[in-house]
Amino acid sequence: MSRHPSILITGASGEMGHGLIDRLSQNPDRPIITLDLNPLPPGTGAKVRKEFVGSILDPQLLDRIHAEYEVDRVFHLAALLSTRSEFSPALAHKVNVEGTLNLLEFAQKEGESHGRPVVFFYPSSIAAYGLPDAATKTRAGRVKEDEFNFPTTMYGANKLYCEHLGRYYDRHFRQLSAEPKAGKIDFRCIRFPGLISADTVPSGGTSDYVPEMIHAAAERKAYACFVQPDARIPFMAMPDAVDAILKLTAADKSRLSRVVYNIGAFAPSAGEVEAIVRRAFPAADISYKLDAKRAAIVASWPADVDDSAARTDWGLAPRYDLASAFGEYLIPNIRKRYG
Ligand code: SER
Repeated sequence: MSRHPSILITGASGEMGHGLIDRLSQNPDRPIITLDLNPLPPGTGAKVRKEFVGSILDPQLLDRIHAEYEVDRVFHLAALLSTRSEFSPALAHKVNVEGTLNLLEFAQKEGESHGRPVVFFYPSSIAAYGLPDAATKTRAGRVKEDEFNFPTTMYGANKLYCEHLGRYYDRHFRQLSAEPKAGKIDFRCIRFPGLISADTVPSGGTSDYVPEMIHAAAERKAYACFVQPDARIPFMAMPDAVDAILKLTAADKSRLSRVVYNIGAFAPSAGEVEAIVRRAFPAADISYKLDAKRAAIVASWPADVDDSAARTDWGLAPRYDLASAFGEYLIPNIRKRYG
């Protein structure tokens, strides 16, 4: 129990939670509370004040956290990723949309009770885009936030809608009531590209072919890539993604011209990634076995994103480009990891 300003991270034991907890725990003045269906790995668990193992769909658990803690920052990372969501669309909607609504309600109550706006960070995705065909994708190049918002997946539709839901709580919540209650949530959102971590392999996503290819090569396992060599979407190294979250959530609100920001770092084709992985691991056993349905999802995502608003408004400046992400971050750390 703590009436001290605290951070709540949902989905904390996922890929992004791991790096975010490392960075946020460097500030001992703001304790971290986590909520995830799965327990945190022991090293990470030691960095948080209180770990709740449970569901974002459990209102009693959220009420208990509200009663026991003064939360003024929420990082709502829990979600079912895009491939998994296509197999269970109704469940995806429950977790991704109703779960987000529950956390927004939680944050609204927190903001109302301690009187300060709760900074609510929401990770959206390039899945919020849907480009109709290859010619349009090539022509579109680096897409802006408000273009091609026609996702083809349940996950993408969930993300796009929750961006709007967050904007509603921030700016228009209960606009017809006698005492409008907007402004208790300070909602900030990044549309992430595919993310690549040296520490973890994602599960249930559709951009997973890049992290899977590199981790498999380092583990000396064969890998059959499910998209064609010319499939192209933007990617980013995980430390830069965590950096971006910290920069956006620390930015002065008056500098933010948007609620939702694209970010990107590099946009290689699967074949370009394969060439880099082969140079680092000459014995890598990489082949292509097209999964036309998953590849179609990748084909509907943009080849790259225009992230100039993030660079101008809050100083997005990824440290790693394609060469240094692999050469300085991924390959050395992944090599160490698998020995
Ligand atoms: N990387 C995610 C996925 O593939 C997209 O946000 O589902």
